[in-house]
Amino acid sequence: MKVASIVGARPQFIKAAPVSRAIERYAQEHPDSGLREILVHTGQHYDYEMSEIFFRELDLKKPDYHLGVGSGSHAHQIGEMLKGIEAVLLEEKPDWALVYGDTNSTLAGALAAAHAHVPVAHVEAGLRSFNRGMPEETNRVLTDHVSSLLFCPTETAVKNLAREGIAVGVHLVGDVMCDALLANLEEAGAISTILSRLELRPREYFLATVHRAENTDDAERLGGIVEAFRKLGGSYPVIWPVHPRTRQALESYHLSPSPGAVVRLIDPISYRDMLMLEKAARLILTDSGGVQKEAYLLGVPCVTLREETEWLETVQAGWNRLAGVVVDRIVDAVSHVPRGPRRPLYGDGGAAKQIAEILANGSRPA
Ligand code: UD1
Ligand code: UDP
Repeated sequence: MKVASIVGARPQFIKAAPVSRAIERYAQEHPDSGLREILVHTGQHYDYEMSEIFFRELDLKKPDYHLGVGSGSHAHQIGEMLKGIEAVLLEEKPDWALVYGDTNSTLAGALAAAHAHVPVAHVEAGLRSFNRGMPEETNRVLTDHVSSLLFCPTETAVKNLAREGIAVGVHLVGDVMCDALLANLEEAGAISTILSRLELRPREYFLATVHRAENTDDAERLGGIVEAFRKLGGSYPVIWPVHPRTRQALESYHLSPSPGAVVRLIDPISYRDMLMLEKAARLILTDSGGVQKEAYLLGVPCVTLREETEWLETVQAGWNRLAGVVVDRIVDAVSHVPRGPRRPLYGDGGAAKQIAEILANGSRPA
């Protein structure tokens, strides 16, 4: 059983790490299964700190194919990926194409595979924001509808698929990002020096990330976020590892969040450094999907800089508050995140193992 895993963007390297490891382990324990993986990197993310740093830190295998697609409009990016992925699939003839999440690399992988008659397995299937303005929502819906195996992280995701008439091939396995976090937290604590490098004390800073197109591609929305950070910085510094898309937007709108003690812009950081910064933060402000979940898993309150979220459970549990981008709403939300009891919403760290087993035992759909 040959699996072609297709990745390209930062969160996909983090999601793929536990799955690759589980595939490798399954193959060692069941040599007769013939289970093996080839890794395809589309090149959607390419800066050292957006890509290679994760391969090194998470000990991901070197991609068997690197398509070097890079940045561009959605159509350009997806088009180039389709051509590259199709060539790999025709050459390798895998039994499964395994795609992760909701990026352009996800959609291109799924679409190329569907047309090459390679069945698609989707990790993080069934998530919906119900906001069709987001490119990610289009990517998710289309990917799910061409997938034969749909690995859902939550019951909400299973229900979303059922509402769209998808029930066959659906598996509630938990969230591979929870696997990644549990697998890395201890080592992160042992090796990360990020708090001392930045001279931070636990609970005495806010941590922020911003990269959603709806926030970065709109000067007013990004301006609201920056203004809110400035205000919050009056009580505790805001530490902001800046995504390259956001760095460009801040520069082009001449939005300077007065770098210094109040709002500290830093380059994107490694996963383990990020886990440590998250864990010790007073509160996290973010529009990232992955970071919302990590905040919950680490027991850190979160304010989400969006109007909706795919990770509803974190809001229902009282640990995440949706604040959009209006300055006063953000500032108000920070002082009113109502914590509640935390239960394991995203599985027990065994999602990747289940995925490997299902891939190994699943026969190709007719
Ligand atoms: C993409 C995903 C988003 C995901 C995010 C994770 C899509 C449509 N969006 O958004 O769902 O949450 O990745 O981080 O697939 N850039 C660099 N260096 C890099 C990568 C990007 O400078 O290594 C800059 C380029 O100017 C590029 C811009 O960032 O145009 C946006 O990159 P892109 O991959 O198109 O989308 P993301 O915003 O990263
Ligand atoms: N992350 C990281 N370094 C950073 C910012 C984020 O390692 O500087 C990690 C974060 O901990 C999470 C993942 O990247 O595991 C989330 O990716 P991102 O926010 O880019 O995308 P999303 O989850 O919104 O698709």
